[in-house]
Amino acid sequence: EWSLKERHSRLNSHAARYYHRILMHEAAGEVAREYLLGRGVRPSAWERFCLGFAPGVGLEGFLKENGYDGDALVASGLFTEHYGVLRERFRGRIIFPIYDARGRCLGFGGRALDDEEPKYLNSPESPVFSKSRNLYGLHLALPAIREQRRAIVVEGYMDCIAAQENGFTNTVASLGTAFTQDQARLLLRYTNEVVLAFDGDAAGSAAAMRSAGYLQELGGRVYVLDMADAKDPDEFLRLKGREAFREALEKRTVPFLEFKLERLLSDSDLRDVFKKAEIVKELMADLERISDHVVREGYLRGIARRLNTSEEAVRLEFMRHLAKRR
Ligand code: UTP
Ligand code: MN
Ligand code: MN
Ligand code: MN
Ligand code: MN
Repeated sequence: EWSLKERHSRLNSHAARYYHRILMHEAAGEVAREYLLGRGVRPSAWERFCLGFAPGVGLEGFLKENGYDGDALVASGLFTEHYGVLRERFRGRIIFPIYDARGRCLGFGGRALDDEEPKYLNSPESPVFSKSRNLYGLHLALPAIREQRRAIVVEGYMDCIAAQENGFTNTVASLGTAFTQDQARLLLRYTNEVVLAFDGDAAGSAAAMRSAGYLQELGGRVYVLDMADAKDPDEFLRLKGREAFREALEKRTVPFLEFKLERLLSDSDLRDVFKKAEIVKELMADLERISDHVVREGYLRGIARRLNTSEEAVRLEFMRHLAKRR
């Protein structure tokens, strides 16, 4: 007897193979091949990530030939039903199958070929699939994550593919800016060191703040990659190449608290002592989450130095923060 999850992933695997074959071999896949090549995604990546293309017709027949009935098709989230007629959910989209850590296909993301909205459509949330409980690319990244004892987290499908294809195989994607507590827990099963490489925009940096909080609470060591002027890792890699990315990973990752401090400093005037005090207060909760005394001590000193105040003053504020929490 197959569990619900097994049955769901078996159907999804069939669908993934169908979409993949169209991308690889069929005339209907030509637009998608051009799109991917135009964005620098090579056929080796189409294979590795089992990318596909959904023309929008034909999946129903294929799945029924493989023994699935209409109810199973609707339950899969790959179809919607209108007056007994099935309509494919993904039409004219590049398909990104989403796998769990064990390599079971649980859902899909689909990107529009032009600027249609939404840009990405995903399988609906269900008891067996939740975007916020999975990490894209994890099943492929696991060996590298274990070996390097470090994972890189990016926002998007394309970022994950570009990073892995350029040799940064320890990369996973959060599938949007909402990196969740569940995703943090999942990732920390495999490593406790995480580099956040989110988009360079305001949403990405806000996401880094939130994600780092979850990860640190669970004991993770969090670094943030400074994307400089690139929009996201995919663009960074395309514009500057893998060596520049490697260098950024080596030289431009900073421990999360430092990243946060610099961010707070960048929109504050340090000649104002009240602003200084505010910044110190903003950092106390993060400091509290760090259980290692040596790390905490290092941060206390760093904060004092950067704010041009005494370590003693920062330490006293930290004690006051702790006292208030009790
Ligand atoms: P982005 O808007 O940063 O897109 O969303 P992107 O990954 O850079 O996409 P390209 O380069 O234009 O193709 C980041 C991630 O957020 C999710 C997707 O997982 C996407 O990869 N997302 C975004 C959605 O689920 N739906 C959307 O409409 C947009
Ligand atoms: Mn293949
Ligand atoms: Mn974004
Ligand atoms: Mn992006
Ligand atoms: Mn992008």
